[in-house]
Amino acid sequence: MRKQVIAGNWKMNGTIASGSILIEAFTSFLGDKDLDCEIVVCPPFTALERAVSLTKNTQVSVGAQNMDYHDAGAFTGEVSPLMLMEIGVSYVIIGHSERREYYGETDAMVNEKIKSAFFHSLQPIVCVGESLEQREANETISFIHGQLKRALQDIPADQVEKLIIAYEPIWAIGTGKTATADQAEEVCKSIREYIAELYTPNVADLVRIQYGGSVKANNAREILSEPNIDGALVGGASLIVDEFNEIIMAAQ
Ligand code: G3H
Repeated sequence: MRKQVIAGNWKMNGTIASGSILIEAFTSFLGDKDLDCEIVVCPPFTALERAVSLTKNTQVSVGAQNMDYHDAGAFTGEVSPLMLMEIGVSYVIIGHSERREYYGETDAMVNEKIKSAFFHSLQPIVCVGESLEQREANETISFIHGQLKRALQDIPADQVEKLIIAYEPIWAIGTGKTATADQAEEVCKSIREYIAELYTPNVADLVRIQYGGSVKANNAREILSEPNIDGALVGGASLIVDEFNEIIMAAQ
């Protein structure tokens, strides 16, 4: 049985102070509730260390929104996996569509980052997803399979089975336009089938696939009840305490 993962991607929002207030609100709501899912918050880099200290001994883990794949060196402005490890970060989002679109991140870079994350025992959350044009041209599945094939090149089965893949249709990100539960399930199922083809049915059965794109308290339950959807990568709603709490409860 796969454990659901609810992750909040705060993107470039907030301050250390406002982030601390959010985390304190989530963790006090969750208290010692017996939760049946993993919860991850992904604040901006500057707020990571505080987030790690505030979530110690809670059910919440901390993830970064990006990282470089080198350990160290002349890479101005980048943050390495070793730096994330040093402050106790345990997850990292890789290949978010905003990174791909605004910072030219390619599938080859995503591939290097996944390898580096596993090497350093960081849990990667790897994003894939189609544009509106691709969906309208009926290219969704083939495009996403291509992204996956390139992202997973030379990554062994014992790592892929630990992967979290986030299916995020670009047209649904921050637009308030959510994929229907059927649309999300169709793609997540096809991702699982493709992993079975690239690896084995057993690997496909273990890999966790999240949906992301305008997930809110009022649509989370329906999306999360789909058989091939194992959680959500939440943007905007993860900055609102009641919304994020309700999404977590929808995963129970
Ligand atoms: O990483 C999160 C996604 O980009 C979804 O963002 O929930 O604001 O649409 P959103």
